[in-house]
Amino acid sequence: MKKDIKEVIVTEKQIKDLCVKLGKQITLDYKDKENPILLGLLKGCIPFMSDLMKYIDLPVEVEFMDVKSYHGGISSSGDIKIRMDINTSVYNRDIIICEDIVDTGKTLDTVVRLLRHRGAKSVEVVTLLDKPEGRLIPFTPKYIGITIPKVFVVGYGLDYNEFYRNLPYVGILKESVYDK
Ligand code: IMP
Repeated sequence: MKKDIKEVIVTEKQIKDLCVKLGKQITLDYKDKENPILLGLLKGCIPFMSDLMKYIDLPVEVEFMDVKSYHGGISSSGDIKIRMDINTSVYNRDIIICEDIVDTGKTLDTVVRLLRHRGAKSVEVVTLLDKPEGRLIPFTPKYIGITIPKVFVVGYGLDYNEFYRNLPYVGILKESVYDK
């Protein structure tokens, strides 16, 4: 896998530090809320959410949704499908959505609207990576690990055609991998 990476842009050490920082901030902000739900968007959230939650020093419920926006390839299709819904009611609950990356903003905009429509008390987003230059609709996550340029990245949950998710860092994929 490593031979397909052009450049590592977020190292393991940086990721750990970002998780500690975000976890502390969320702990402070939610200390007076009642059992927030940490809602991971599968599958990209897996490494980030499992690291981040260790640094949230509060009783949180952990839930998942599987929302698909990319159908292979390297650009967002804009077509969002809910493949697995959350298993519990969000009515009157504080929700923190945990995402690997925000690009066009369409996935999160859709999920946030849906949760609000279902009566969530509050809905905020924590993302490890933000690609603001990729936005097609306005969307500002409350908690951002690090802002990156408009490049296609893989690793630490992020995939290209379902591979590279298990790299421990985030790296730019060589164009030769998808220009074949
Ligand atoms: P959005 O709806 O365009 O904001 O897309 C968010 C989703 O697109 C993320 O959860 C990822 O699954 C995927 N995505 C966006 N940018 C990248 C990238 O650079 N590499 C891998 N997946 C990405």
